[in-house]
Amino acid sequence: MTTTTPTTPRTAPGPRGKFLVGNLFDAREAGLLDYHVKAWRAYGDVVRFQMGPLTMLQVVRPEHLQQVMVSNAKNYIKGLSHENLRRTIGDGILTAEGEAWQRQRRLMQPTYTPKGVAQFADIMGDSTRKLLAGWDARASAAPVAINQEMMHVTMSVISRSMFGLDIGEHFKETGDGLRYLLQHVSERGLSSIDWPAWVPTESNRRLKHAVRVVDEFLYGVIRERRAHGLGEDLLSLLMTAKDAETGEAMSEKQLRDEVLITFFAGHETTAQTLTWTWAMLAQHPEVEARLWDELARVLAGRSPALDDIGALTYTRQVIDETLRLYSPVAVMARDAVAADVVGDYAVAPGNLILLLPFMTHRHPEFWENPDAFDPEHFAPERVKDRPRYAYVPFGAGPRTCLGMHFALMEAVLILAEIAQRYQIRLANPKQELAFDWAGTLRPKGDLPMTLHAR
Ligand code: HEM
Repeated sequence: MTTTTPTTPRTAPGPRGKFLVGNLFDAREAGLLDYHVKAWRAYGDVVRFQMGPLTMLQVVRPEHLQQVMVSNAKNYIKGLSHENLRRTIGDGILTAEGEAWQRQRRLMQPTYTPKGVAQFADIMGDSTRKLLAGWDARASAAPVAINQEMMHVTMSVISRSMFGLDIGEHFKETGDGLRYLLQHVSERGLSSIDWPAWVPTESNRRLKHAVRVVDEFLYGVIRERRAHGLGEDLLSLLMTAKDAETGEAMSEKQLRDEVLITFFAGHETTAQTLTWTWAMLAQHPEVEARLWDELARVLAGRSPALDDIGALTYTRQVIDETLRLYSPVAVMARDAVAADVVGDYAVAPGNLILLLPFMTHRHPEFWENPDAFDPEHFAPERVKDRPRYAYVPFGAGPRTCLGMHFALMEAVLILAEIAQRYQIRLANPKQELAFDWAGTLRPKGDLPMTLHAR
């Protein structure tokens, strides 16, 4: 779809701001995602905010997402919008730009193609069966925090697949540390109005502790890989890569930043997806029954393997539907380099563009009954009638999620393995499923669920 440029682009509508600060603190007070959803409902598909000196445009229409992420992607970079993330978690492939990004992407891409990820199917199955062995051995019927259980299995999968080692007992402390880093970034948002890191505020103290825990883990992973000799995994690839021009290997810090991104991007989002899936299945027994039918027909009680994935079509529709309503990456950001026009509205150099799959995925113009959990949204005949960029849980264009094939294969295999063996129910069936946006979209608090062997 191409965008026509009117002769005089207009200024997008948006909420009035306060003197000097504009809308800077409004989103903090209201909760970021809520604030932007309300603005969408009040002002439409392109909304303008004034964040102190910075102008921000929120876009949700598929053709606008396509323009920013695909057709005119060169004009929309990860600049100032990613500065807080860079400062807090480091500058790996997720935040890098230009030549540095291209080099890392070229290097890592082969590991993540559909052919490249096929080798990890056995690890995914094995880590899930280890989790289930723990469930089978439980003497208690007390609820478990299902988000923690999913985090455990996806952490085990990513560390075994990419670093050749199992995270084992480090999982809780390291995971909490990583999540705190991301929470810190989302709480600060774009604001540079904050105490400097050396001031001993409560938040700076927690940040320092989280960085220490995470660094101990990351440098430990690198040390261990070196000590035990390099193998075929991604970490070994990163350790041996040489810059084509200088011939230099990555610095220890660069390596640490890439390990962090792989580890974090590689487990958190998939765990959140599975967590929401269990909650949805508990609330939609008719979907669960159809899922069970498919599992019985395709697998007849045996564990799912790589070759089964093509036949597990409804299982995949369940995952797609969860990713539609609860896209873990609910918000993405870019910075405009040169002037442009989105819809009828003017974009100026330096404007920050907020892309909101959360709303694109619930846009009534593109989704029938958009707020309902219904995997039929992904029936093939309905997919073909929908604009391609109406569904972007993995982003789009050159910065599309590197781990997309890995994540989809993992989510289908884990869901199929567990759903065949267990029925999972909300400990409190009346529990309202509130969400929290802290870098990724998560359920608010732990999600206590009960496990019932089938
Ligand atoms: C359901 C699971 C996942 C979801 C929903 C997801 C979503 C996303 C999205 C939306 C982006 C693009 C961000 C942007 O354009 O600003 C992204 C980037 C990325 N993801 Fe994922 N992701 C998932 C799983 C994974 C996994 C399993 C890995 C690694 C094994 C991974 C690695 C990455 C990397 C490295 C990038 C940065 C790519 C680049 O900038 O070139 N992701 N992801």
